Order: sequence, then C-alpha cells, then structure tokens
Amino acid sequence: MSAFKERVFSGVQPTGSLHLGNYLGAIKRFVELQSQMDCIYCVVDLHALTIATPPDELRDGIRGVTAGFLAAGLDPSHSIIFNQSQVHEHAELAWIFSCVARVGWLNRMTQFKEKAGKDRENASAGLYTYPVLMAADILAYKATHVPVGEDQKQHLELTRDIAQKFNTDYSASIRARGHGDVFFPLTEPLIGGPAARVMSLRDGTKKMSKSDPSDYSRINLTDDVDTIAQKIKKAKTDPHPLPETVKELEARPEAENLVGIIAALTDATPEQVLKQHAGAQFSQFKSALVDVAVEKLGPLRAEMIRLAHAQDHIDAVLADGARRASTIAHPIIEEVKGIVGVVGAK
Ligand code: AMP
Ligand code: TRP
Repeated sequence: MSAFKERVFSGVQPTGSLHLGNYLGAIKRFVELQSQMDCIYCVVDLHALTIATPPDELRDGIRGVTAGFLAAGLDPSHSIIFNQSQVHEHAELAWIFSCVARVGWLNRMTQFKEKAGKDRENASAGLYTYPVLMAADILAYKATHVPVGEDQKQHLELTRDIAQKFNTDYSASIRARGHGDVFFPLTEPLIGGPAARVMSLRDGTKKMSKSDPSDYSRINLTDDVDTIAQKIKKAKTDPHPLPETVKELEARPEAENLVGIIAALTDATPEQVLKQHAGAQFSQFKSALVDVAVEKLGPLRAEMIRLAHAQDHIDAVLADGARRASTIAHPIIEEVKGIVGVVGAK
C-alpha cells in the first residue's frame, strides 16, 4: 500500500448543545492531536439536516459548536476549522460513495435504527445515507486518523469498507491514472480512554446524549457552576462505597461512569482514581467530582459565553477554514471524477 500523509479529520453535529460526552470523548482529544498531526475539524451541518431542525436553531448550533471548539483550545491558525456545507466536495463525494456502498451495509447500521425508532418508513432518506456522507467527509481529505467516541465505531468500519471497495472496483483506473495501487487510505479510528463512552447521569447503561429528554442526564458545556453541582449530586449511584479495583466496577455502570469522568477530566487512569478514592462514599466522591468539573469546565464555559458575542469572528474562522479545506478536497475530488470516468474532469 502506498504511504499516505498522516491527517486527522473529525466532525461534530450542530444539534442541541455540546455536553461532557462530546468534550471528553471527542473535542478534548481533538485538542491533544493538534500538536501531533495536521488536523481538520468540521461542524457537520449537512448531517444535522437529517433530523428536522428549525433554521435559526441550526445557525445558532453551528456557531455554538464552533465556539466550543475554540473555547476548548482548537487553534484556527493551526488546525482547519469549518462547517461542512461551505465545502461542496463533501456532498459531491457522498453521491459517488452512495453508488459504492451497498444497501445491505447501510441496513446494518445500528445508529439509523436507534434514531429512526419505530416509524422507520417516515425517517428521512438522508438519515439512512448519513454514514455515506460521513465517509465522504473523511475521505475527501484522505484522512488517516479519526478521533471519535465509541458510538461512531460502526460508521468508521463502513468508511473503511467504502474506501476498500472503491480502491478495488476502480483499481485499473487508479493505476492507469498514476495514483499507485490504492487511492483512498483505510482510515484508523482513534477511540479510547476512560471517556470513549460517557454514560447518562440518570442511567449508567445509556450513553450521555444531546437528545435525552432529561437535562439531568447530561452536563452541558454551557451549564453554570450551580447546575453542574446539582446534576452531579443528583446523579444515580449505587449504595456501595467505591471499590479498590477497576474489575469490581464492571457490574456497577453508574460508579464506573463517574470514575471514568473524573479520570478523563484529570488525565488520570481509572486505576489512579480508585487508588485515591477507594472506600469513599458517593457523597464524598461526588464532591470531589464537582470540584474537578467546575475547575475544568468553568473557563471553557466563560470563553463560550464570550464567543457567543463574537459572531463575526466565528464566521470569519469558518470562512477561512472552508477556504483552506477546499484547497485540499478540490483536487482529490477532481481525481475521483477522473477515476470513475465522468467527462469534464482533468
Ligand atoms: P455528535 O454530537 O453525535 O455529533 O457527536 C460528536 C462527537 O462526540 C462524536 O465523536 C461522538 O462519538 C462523541 N460523543 C457523543 N456522545 C458521546 C458520549 N456520550 N461519550 C463519548 N463520546 C461521545
Ligand atoms: N457521525 C458523527 C456523530 O454523530 C459526526 C460526523 C460526521 C463525523 N462526519 C464525521 C465524525 C466524520 C468523524 C468524522 O458524532
């Protein structure tokens, strides 16, 4: 296989407000990767259209997620930060990939089944083909690494399947046009750490999510100190003190979740957290968690609020990012057009 330049791509949907799961599972890791590779971070507004969203809410959401990116420490002079709809190559490549992906593959996607719910006939066709657009997001930049939370694992496997099938189906054309043996990389997911799957504060078996009807299930990045404290104090737990080993957390999802959260917030391992807190009652442990959460999330929230008043700055960051993103995606999509044989491409 030919070597690909290492490049990170990830996306976050601008629906609802960002929560602790988005931060610990994705955005905090985006920030860490900035010093290791070239990074492209996208506010995926076209993905948000798959579930009806009022236009004003969508616009606010796009700027809100961008503010969250910047407040968390993404540096727009270094990484590329933009919203998906400004770079038309995503939608173009998604069409070509929808002709590569198989219906059988899409039928296996569990996120579609969860999001569509019982009334599947009435879900948008976009919700069904959503993972194809996601593959296009990533491969329009030939990205090699994608940091995401655990819930996106299946979509990244589909992305690899699409890349592989494209490389195989068009192998002769790829070689004939001088692109080596393979055109698209098989992207590596970067999933892991104690917060790859942050769970609901109300139910340790359900993931923390923007769409949970209970606001007490999640900590939003815009929550104030009192709200954070209240949500943590009300979080569901079990009646036992914290154990000594991570193994003993396995059958205790709520305890495991809170230990994972404090570990991720303090850049520690769950083992280190238990070393410090073994034997503690939840009342005590929750106080420690409130302190850490307020210390880490307080400055982030303050910066998000400041940026909420700097719309021109946010829009300029997105426009500049979109311009730089197009510079990378445009020639790749032109090559794809040549490979598949449509006329007019170089
Ligand atoms: P979304 O809000 O669905 O666009 O998700 C944005 C990013 O946050 C993706 O990488 C998700 O995998 C990640 N994410 C969302 N919810 C959680 C969660 N509860 N725990 C860990 N990561 C999450
Ligand atoms: N599907 C992802 C989510 O719901 C968002 C997303 C869209 C994405 N395109 C992407 C993530 C490309 C990583 C790479 O969280």
